[in-house]
Amino acid sequence: MAGEVSMIGSVILALFLAGYLGQQYLPPPKPRVIGLDLGTTFCSVGVFHPGSGQVEVIADEEGRKSIPSAVSFTLTEVLAGHQAADLADSNPQNTIYDAKRFIGKKFDPDALEQESARYPFKVINNNGSAEFEISTNHTFTVSPEFIGSRLLLKMRKMAELQLGVPVQKAVISVPAEFDERQRNYTVRAANLAGLEILRVINEPTAAAMAYGLHKVDVFNVLVVDLGGGTLDVSLLNKQGGMFLTRAMAGNNKLGGQDFTQRLLQYTTERVRQEFGSTPFLKEDVQRLRQAVEAAKLNLTIHPSATVRVPLHLHSAEQTDSPKRSPVLFQAVITRQLFEELNEDLFQKILAPVKTVLAEGHLEKEDVDEIVLVGGSTRIPRIRKLISDFFGKEPNTSVDPDLAVVTGVAIQAGIMGGSWPLQVSAIEIPNRHLRKTNFS
Ligand SMILES: *[C@@H]1O[C@H](CO)[C@@H](O)[C@H](O)[C@H]1NC(C)=O
Ligand SMILES: *[C@@H]1O[C@H](CO)[C@@H](O)[C@H](O)[C@H]1NC(C)=O
Ligand SMILES: *[C@@H]1O[C@H](CO)[C@@H](O)[C@H](O)[C@H]1NC(C)=O
Ligand SMILES: *[C@@H]1O[C@H](CO)[C@@H](O)[C@H](O)[C@H]1NC(C)=O
Ligand SMILES: *[C@@H]1O[C@H](CO)[C@@H](O)[C@H](O)[C@H]1NC(C)=O
Repeated sequence: MAGEVSMIGSVILALFLAGYLGQQYLPPPKPRVIGLDLGTTFCSVGVFHPGSGQVEVIADEEGRKSIPSAVSFTLTEVLAGHQAADLADSNPQNTIYDAKRFIGKKFDPDALEQESARYPFKVINNNGSAEFEISTNHTFTVSPEFIGSRLLLKMRKMAELQLGVPVQKAVISVPAEFDERQRNYTVRAANLAGLEILRVINEPTAAAMAYGLHKVDVFNVLVVDLGGGTLDVSLLNKQGGMFLTRAMAGNNKLGGQDFTQRLLQYTTERVRQEFGSTPFLKEDVQRLRQAVEAAKLNLTIHPSATVRVPLHLHSAEQTDSPKRSPVLFQAVITRQLFEELNEDLFQKILAPVKTVLAEGHLEKEDVDEIVLVGGSTRIPRIRKLISDFFGKEPNTSVDPDLAVVTGVAIQAGIMGGSWPLQVSAIEIPNRHLRKTNFS
């Protein structure tokens, strides 16, 4: 017995030594575990480089660090990401997006029918689960997890290309409110893409990890995630290295596209005042929307932006020849105007913040760190609203679009620690984190 113990002791010592020497003299190994953020509108993949201690969010051939969560079926191919999104206009009924809203979820027939009405593709009810009907040269159905698997496969390939090694293991994030079934189906999507999932972690926890908050002395972390269409606020409580979700609240009808819509309504009204009619060609409406969206993005950095688009307009005299020469519409939008147009929407952000504080039995002074996630949290007025409410600055050093993937990649790095020393050093936070993710 004593002999066995001392032998185990020597083996551990040898492993430590090998790890120590290895770390000193060998180049760091390539990461083999990837971190995946399978988002509703965009997806990203990242890895943790043990040598530099840095996260690398993997870019595609054109340097883009996220891919649209779209999958398109053509006669000959199944495309994912940008190539799929590019087909959304020409192949709308076979280009599936928003699949995450359906994955692993049971619907009653009416709810599913309502959902279906929002999309140009066909969502059908398979005994309470959503499926998508595809018609190329034949008609078939695919599941939301199949759509997810094509996106995950695309990201796996991007990672393999970048790292130059095969990748079979991953950590993946899911919304904190996903139930066990939604988590299981997300894992199934990854399995279909040939990936073994070592851990499923909550998106807000990942965002907190992106800021290294798992390593520092904080107790209460508030995560505000404001994306294109939804707001999610989570209150995390850290106890001995373990994050617990104490409260969640949100608004699934508030996000960046609502702010764009307000600006679009305003510019459309300006067009009407100036030219006596509003854009009616689908392409013109589309172009105006894109210009307004670009102006909105610019206004996060610049005090003003210009919307400039050629439009084909009806006027009283020329209704019969709508395609005559276009007029040039121009308008300068100031940041102040943008804020006035959206102030009531911005104020709505505080409601779920107050709810999670109340449910978590905390005063706002008790919140140690505030983490912002999602592109819309770049809007200066929104940042100010939050910092005024708490009387402190939110943490903004990580790109809000990449905070989740950054945190998932850090977790992947922890799971993939291939050096003996790192394995033993990291064992403890692992055990804690496992509890967190299913709380
Ligand atoms: C439909 O779902 C119910 C429970 O959700 C299950 O009991 C039943 O077996 C399912 N039927 C089919 C045909 O899959
Ligand atoms: C559909 O068309 C493609 C290309 O024309 C062909 O390769 C494929 O076999 C066809 N599939 C069916 C089911 O007809
Ligand atoms: C999820 O998966 C686990 C493990 O495969 C299984 O035990 C559990 O019953 C599943 N839960 C649901 C709700 O599907
Ligand atoms: C946004 O800013 C860039 C450079 O800062 C400029 O080239 C572009 O025209 C601007 N777009 C709008 C809509 O203001
Ligand atoms: C951001 O988070 C880090 C912890 O990693 C902390 O040291 C820093 O003070 C925070 N910044 C702000 C503005 O809260």
